[in-house]
Amino acid sequence: PLERTFLAIKPDGVQRKLVGEIIRRFETKGFTLVGLKILNVSRELAEQHYDVHKERPFFAGLVEFITSGPVVAMVWEGEGVVSSARKIIGATNPLAAEPGTIRGDFGINIGRNLIHGSDAIETAQREIALWFKEEEIANWEPTL
Ligand code: CMP
Repeated sequence: PLERTFLAIKPDGVQRKLVGEIIRRFETKGFTLVGLKILNVSRELAEQHYDVHKERPFFAGLVEFITSGPVVAMVWEGEGVVSSARKIIGATNPLAAEPGTIRGDFGINIGRNLIHGSDAIETAQREIALWFKEEEIANWEPTL
């Protein structure tokens, strides 16, 4: 079924100039880019986005990091895009992520793991609504 997922290139990915490389991987796989912006994340947005982790010991550091520099927020569409994007991204800990994945190829630090991807369809819906306005999403379908 056609799905949408929310992906965010974190401040480390932007600072390391990996934006193009990361976008290329989802484009060449065949997914459709329907939302894209760069922004400085407010503390409020960061805390809402990571709400499920608020009791974790790393929560404060997580919010600190995601608000430390610009983030590239994206919405991607395609068949099975939620789980496929998670595979392209790789395991949360870049040291455990397979080579060939984004984290496996470019990262070594669990807190600075380059990119976030929604973990389920319902999470994706929540995150897209949190980060994007309806009019910021371009509804289009590839014709080939
Ligand atoms: P993300 O996919 O953005 O979702 C939650 C984030 O918490 C995760 O990526 C990691 O960057 C971060 N995280 C998870 N576990 C730890 C940890 N043990 N220490 C620091 N950060 C963590």
